[in-house]
Amino acid sequence: MNHLNEAFLKHFNYEPTASFFSPGRINLIGEHTDNFGGHVFPAAITLGTYAVVGKNNTGLLRLYSLNFPEVGVITVDLNELDFRKEDNWANYVKGMAKYLKEAGHAITVGLDILIEGTIPNGSGLSSSASLEILAGIIFEKMNDLTIDRLDIVKLGKRVENDYLGLNSGIMDQFAIGMGAKDQALLLDTNTLVYEKIPVKLGENIVVIMNTKKRRELVESAYNDRLRECQEALKRLQTKLPIASLGELDEETFNAHTNLIGDPILIKRARHPVFENRRTLRATEYLKAGDLDAFGKLVNDSHISLRDDYGVSCHELDTLAENAWEQPGVLGARMIGAGFGGCAIAIVAKDQADALIKNVGKIYEEKIGYPAEFYIAEIGDGARAL
Ligand code: GLA
Repeated sequence: MNHLNEAFLKHFNYEPTASFFSPGRINLIGEHTDNFGGHVFPAAITLGTYAVVGKNNTGLLRLYSLNFPEVGVITVDLNELDFRKEDNWANYVKGMAKYLKEAGHAITVGLDILIEGTIPNGSGLSSSASLEILAGIIFEKMNDLTIDRLDIVKLGKRVENDYLGLNSGIMDQFAIGMGAKDQALLLDTNTLVYEKIPVKLGENIVVIMNTKKRRELVESAYNDRLRECQEALKRLQTKLPIASLGELDEETFNAHTNLIGDPILIKRARHPVFENRRTLRATEYLKAGDLDAFGKLVNDSHISLRDDYGVSCHELDTLAENAWEQPGVLGARMIGAGFGGCAIAIVAKDQADALIKNVGKIYEEKIGYPAEFYIAEIGDGARAL
């Protein structure tokens, strides 16, 4: 935190009075199910976004990110919180302030906020949700409010959906707001009922494998897949009394694909249905300590995202598929929205270096530039430090 405090002093000419941390997230299994009332199984990680904060006795926010020094200090009037492109990353903070105010919270205290993120940008580890929840708890604490954590989580999702126009689900904000050390959250995205499950991997660890590919397609494709699945649901609803794809089991889905008709739509909708059931089974295996069976379902998740949902890419496949071939690997798959970003591998501790070396070498040969690897540590959710 020292260099954050120093940078704050340099930019704002006084010492900060509070500091905060908000994590990124990984997802063990349950990918592209959260818009369909399915289950997800994410965990907060120790990479994330730090902030140091002071009150400036004005109605203004002054915001500075050590990750975007070229942007400089962004000044925001707490009475003018509409989206403005030129406000850059500060829009996430503005969006949270706007929706907290609309929800009736008195967000009035002028603040200077200096942040630094340790999540690689655009890596699919949810740097944006990390920033939203960070802003939420800064406003809560610095305005002396007590806000239900779930409300902050829901407002973070609203910033993505209504403020920024991305139809994402609630998984990222939920994991970041509610996460706990060494535990993953089995969340029913239909009811928001969740269970904390210890991530007991024995002698294994989770390695994050970053494609470092710019995620260009992701926003349009994300919304396209969602629309395809909504159309499939509509066709199923002509005969089946369901409100979401997450209500279906595999057998019922298979018995009614004729209602959907179109082969592409069938594939798209099959993914959330099967992935949801896979997630429930996987968490049972993890609880029972059957790590091999857990790992196989992690692999199946990748195959389904690749072949049915169609959100993988050559780079993600290269990482996951070559990880499968390495000794000591229980399972590997892409995580997050897809089309770039990260994959994870669950691997024996003593084989992790070899995995990183071997997959790293193949990746660079095939893709033409190096991937990046980090050991994932599962940590607590967003908090004041
Ligand atoms: C992104 C979204 C999440 C979720 C994942 C895919 O991370 O923000 O809501 O849909 O993609 O599982």
